[in-house]
Amino acid sequence: MSLVTPHGGTLVNRILEGQALEAATREAQSLPAITLSLREQFDLEMIAIGAFSPLTGFMGQADFVSVCKNIRLASGVVWPIPVTLCPANEIAATIQVGKKYALKDDKARVLGILTVTEKYAHDKALEIPNVYKTEDEKHPGVAAIKKQGDTCIAGPIDVIKTTYEPEFPEYRLPPAKTREAFAAKGWNSVSAFQTRNPIHRSHEYLTKVAQEMTDGLLIHPLVGETKSDDIPADTRMQCYTVLIDNYYNKDKTMLTVMPLAMRYAGPREAILHSLIRKNYGVSHFIVGRDHAGVGNYYGTYDAQKIFDQFDIPKEIGITILKFEHTAWCKTCEAVVSSKTCPHGPEHKIAPSGTKVRDMLKAGERPPMEFARPEIADILIKWAQGAK
Ligand code: ADX
Repeated sequence: MSLVTPHGGTLVNRILEGQALEAATREAQSLPAITLSLREQFDLEMIAIGAFSPLTGFMGQADFVSVCKNIRLASGVVWPIPVTLCPANEIAATIQVGKKYALKDDKARVLGILTVTEKYAHDKALEIPNVYKTEDEKHPGVAAIKKQGDTCIAGPIDVIKTTYEPEFPEYRLPPAKTREAFAAKGWNSVSAFQTRNPIHRSHEYLTKVAQEMTDGLLIHPLVGETKSDDIPADTRMQCYTVLIDNYYNKDKTMLTVMPLAMRYAGPREAILHSLIRKNYGVSHFIVGRDHAGVGNYYGTYDAQKIFDQFDIPKEIGITILKFEHTAWCKTCEAVVSSKTCPHGPEHKIAPSGTKVRDMLKAGERPPMEFARPEIADILIKWAQGAK
């Protein structure tokens, strides 16, 4: 058996090598520059390494409109969220179709070259309600779109350097490398766990149930841009490594990171997360309660229900492992869900996020049925340092 085919059929690679790299590095010096936002920098990396396959650059208008309206690229391939380059309006005004531009990071270092094929009005009135299902500016995804420029610049990219300061370099494996690693381990089926949080007992349960069903488990935290009150990636990475060291079968578990900026788009983002993991070679993807949600914008299981409109084997191409809301039940003495446990909420140990943060700040460990003590201790240090 071989690993799952990348989305759209081929794993994209937009990273230049050898003579092409040397030539582009020289050429970029004389090109006008576009400075990318942090999200655009992460998107450049995701495109370059093939995590966004079949995308080869920033989206043109036909794809933008089709993605917003139909959750598909203009070709019909499923894609849920626009991937756009929208510089500040005064920069966008100077950009000409048919020309090349050097793409730079926030420290003016060259990341790659964009060949502009299109320039079009950024239809935020189409994007925001369709993708985020709300127009509330308090939604971090909506706020991010509102801040973007009013013009989208589209075209393929050729990348010189994905990033100059990669966080967690030893864990930052691109899709081609996770695929190699799975093959080397003899894993034909792999389940992936997306997360932007420390792994608590409920999360651990999901990953281990998934692990029972597949050859291997990929713990695949998102380490791109997140909102300021999310727990920073370096603290989370300490939690993941301690947890794996103490409680996972290392022969069956892999930890690598995904450099994606979080959109908080709930259901649409669940689709994006699953297609990306397919590109990384994963066959099963965990979607639990309120996946990629924020606040109360989405129903608990909306991110699962959205998959019902697709022919999953044909159009998504991997298995979606849907999990009910899970928590520790004092009477069952296990992590359970309403599928597996007859007891009501008064039997559950499920402290609110605010309560947990208050405990951590006060130097108290939350109940061990909620978070392993090793994780609690890392989070206490973080919470107290952040005061
Ligand atoms: S997310 O933004 O990446 O979705 P988080 O890291 O909290 O946030 O969740 C990771 C995955 O675990 C998601 O699929 C989410 O739906 C699932 N999940 C988190 N907590 C629970 C829970 N208590 N019960 C079931 N699924 C959960």
